Parts: sequence; C-alpha cells; structure tokens
Amino acid sequence: MDNVKHGDDNLSAILVIFGGTGDLTHRKLMPALYNLVLDQLLPEQFAIVSVGRRTKTDEEYRNEIYASIDKHSRNKINETIWRKLQNMIHYYEFDFTNLEGYVGLKTFLEEIDEKAYTKGNRLFYLAVAPEYFETIVQGLQISDMTKQQGSFSRLIIEKPFGKDLITARKLNNKLLEVFEENSIYRIDHYLGKEMIQNIMVLRFCNSIFEAIWNNRFIDNIQISLTEKLGVGTRGGYYEHSGAMRDMVQNHIMQILSMVAMEPPVNLRTESIRTEKQKVIEAIEEITPEFLRDNVVFGQYGKGVIDGTPVTSYREEGNVPENSSTETFVALKLHINNFRWAGTPFYIRTGKRLGRSSAEIVVQFKELPNILYFEKHEVQEPNLLVLRIQPQVGVFFQFNTKDFNTHHDIVPTKMDTSAISPNQGNTPEAYERLIYDILRGDATLFSRWDEVEAAWTVADKMIRYREQKKFQFPNYDAGSMGPIKAFELLAKDGRKWWNV
Ligand code: BG6
Repeated sequence: MDNVKHGDDNLSAILVIFGGTGDLTHRKLMPALYNLVLDQLLPEQFAIVSVGRRTKTDEEYRNEIYASIDKHSRNKINETIWRKLQNMIHYYEFDFTNLEGYVGLKTFLEEIDEKAYTKGNRLFYLAVAPEYFETIVQGLQISDMTKQQGSFSRLIIEKPFGKDLITARKLNNKLLEVFEENSIYRIDHYLGKEMIQNIMVLRFCNSIFEAIWNNRFIDNIQISLTEKLGVGTRGGYYEHSGAMRDMVQNHIMQILSMVAMEPPVNLRTESIRTEKQKVIEAIEEITPEFLRDNVVFGQYGKGVIDGTPVTSYREEGNVPENSSTETFVALKLHINNFRWAGTPFYIRTGKRLGRSSAEIVVQFKELPNILYFEKHEVQEPNLLVLRIQPQVGVFFQFNTKDFNTHHDIVPTKMDTSAISPNQGNTPEAYERLIYDILRGDATLFSRWDEVEAAWTVADKMIRYREQKKFQFPNYDAGSMGPIKAFELLAKDGRKWWNV
C-alpha cells in the first residue's frame, strides 16, 4: 500500500467522535491518532471533534487525552508531535440523544472546517453503545450533516451490529437511509491485526502453501482466540452478548473467511469481500443434529489465573447469579465447497482461560506410516501456525532426522515470530483502520452481506443456547475450557494444538 505523506490534502477531514470521553476513544482511538501524526500519515488539514456530555474545556479534555496517550500508546510521547495533535483536538459538549442539538453541532463543524481547511469532509465515528447508533444517525440525517456537494461523509461503527439477524437488518436499513453502503465502515478490529492481513500474502504469494491449501492435504484447521481476562467491568454488556455475539459472529467469522476464501480475481475491496462472503455462505447447514454434536458452550466458574484466585462469571458485576450466558464456545464446522468439503474447522474462544493467545493452526494430513513405523509409531504431523498474538509470526513444524542419535525422527520447529523485527511494536490495529477510512479503503471492514451471512449462522447457535438449559458453570477459570470441548476433537481422533 502507498504511504500518503503529510500534507496530502485529499485526506483532509474532520473526525467527529461520538463518545469522546469513553473508553474506546481514550484507550485506542487517540493513541492511534497520535501514532498516525508521528508516522506523518495524517494530513495537516485535519481536525478531531470529540463529542461528550460532560462540561469541560478544550484544555481539560486535551490534558486527559495526553494522559491516555501516555499510558496506551506504543510510542512514548514526543512533545512536538503531541502539540501538533493537540491543536487538532476540540471538545464539543452535547447530549447526542437530543435531536434538536445537532444543528448546533453542524454549525460548530462548519466553523472548524473554515479554520482547518477540511473541505467539508466528515468522518463520523460512533464510539458509543450500539443502542445509540440509530439515534445519532437520525440526528445527522435531520440536521442534513451528511450530504455535502463535493465532500465525503463516512460513518464508522463498532460491533455489535445488531443483536441478531432481525435487529441487524433493521439497523442496517436505517444506516442506509443516510449513508451509502460504501461509506459505512464496520470495524472489526481483528482485521487490522498484522497477521490477519498477512493471511492473504502467505497464501497467495507462496506456492508451497497455496498449492496444498485444500481438503486433499489439510487434515483440519483450528482457530483459537483465548483470553485470560474475564468480563471485568463489562458484565452488563457481556451478559446480553456472550461469546457468540462478542467473538464468533464477527472476529472468528472474519478470520475463517480469510483462511478459507478462494483467491480473489484482484485486490480490489469488493473482489476480496465477495470471496469472503462466499465462505460464510458455504458453511454447512446448522441443523438440530449439528447443534447437538458440534457445539460446546461454557461458562467459567471460579479458579486461579497466574497464581491469583478469580471469581466466577456469575459473581462478576452486573451479572445475575443464575446467568446462562456463555463465556466459552467451541465449534466444529464444515465449509461445503470443492476446496474444503471433508476438512473440519475447529473453533474455540473463551474468557478466563489458562492462556491468552490468538492462533490459526493448519494441520496437514499424515503420510502413510509405512517406512518408519517400527521405531516411530507416531510421527508428528506438519503444522503451520499463524500466530496473531501475543507473538506475531509464523510457526512451521516438519520432521527431520535427529543429528545426535542418527536414527530418531524428530519434529523440527521453525518459528519466525521469535525473530520478527516487528515483534512487540506492530502498528496498533486502529492506526491501520483509521488510516484506511481516511483513504476510503474499505477492504479491512465488513460488508453488509458478510455480516448478514454471519448472523444467519450465529443466530441458530445463540437460539439453541438460549433454549437449552446448560449446566453452568462448567469450566474452572484458568483451565482451557469445558471437558466437552476436548471431547469434540477427541471423538474425531484429534486434539487442540498448543504449540
Ligand atoms: C472485543 C471483545 O471485540 O475483542 C472483547 O468485545 C475481547 O470481549 C476483545 O476481549 C479481544 O480483542 P483483542 O484485540 O484484545 O484480542
């Protein structure tokens, strides 16, 4: 991708952040904006208007932002860079549920526009709880803030996009009344992660991988997004979300589609999104038998993480003591197309597990065990692991003869993540995503039909969990999930890899 350096005034815009005093703005957006200024990727003519309910001066707000950048940025604060960013930031006090107030905001933005030469371009970032999306979009609509001749106007929203297929459709229809589909940027921050973007390069720039990336050579693929963290202060949100809506419907479906998609005809946004969408469409039908045999739900009980005792999910703040919300999901599914028929995809995600990591493990089929079986009844399979976090890079396992014993066969492990020069300092996903929004590149954002297809799959599983009473809690904090998640693979003669 071309880097557009400072001063490219085609990117001039006002970024309007609804939820300017919220967690997302402090922890992710502002540190990302700081690093974009540092890397000279923001144009000179750029302004940030943070909308918040509380009364504060620009100076007070900027001081708070300084402290957050200091805490969360991947780079230490350089005062010259900070001054540049600081001059771009404005605080606007406004209760965004008050529809009459949008006219005032419009006038404020017009004033900033004149001073900052931002050409009427607007990015509206809804860093607020999803129940406010429709209200804000309506406010933008009635104040006629989104359609300026010769300027762009883009909407940025964070998941969850609805709470099921029906509400997602309703929300989407509302958004489409005001914004074109290609001006809506649905953030899935996993797509901004370095290794997720690397999936396409690894697959489509290496003949040794792409030639065997199919059901003839791959035994199974595992996608694991596991966290040691519990729900913390987000109990109120999580209780209505659960792991299915929080992780599977979005992040995992997106990763699955990148891993399994056909090569796009070119690198244009729509070509890539179309191939991703087809993968989700090809997921096998979710029948009652599928739900019974292939889905495991879990909820954490109390336990110990890194030597510290932690409470059960039901004891977390804003969680009812008889909660039936899942904090863990394991799934086995098939993608019914020519490339993947017969190769299972195993998926697992959960909170309060014994390990925090995000990985994709590709297990290749074994060769006939004819030649070396006497001494080595079990040979390790070839494994390709795409390490998304905390390590970033690729791990590959293959068999070689042991130098020392002269006869043993040993698995050799190549791990580029250990030597990655970027390790520990990969650009924050939000930097990449904000920069792409500014350039109008929607490749790393979800298109509506992808979201819709993912809801179609997830909805059936969520309804099953809601209707069937599971015995929760069913795993200890600090373990790797319920026993049934291990049995899911064991009954196929497989296991979760942890390499
Ligand atoms: C978010 C979920 O989308 O992703 C959180 O709402 C989860 O519950 C987080 O913890 C995980 O993201 P990351 O980047 O920390 O792996």
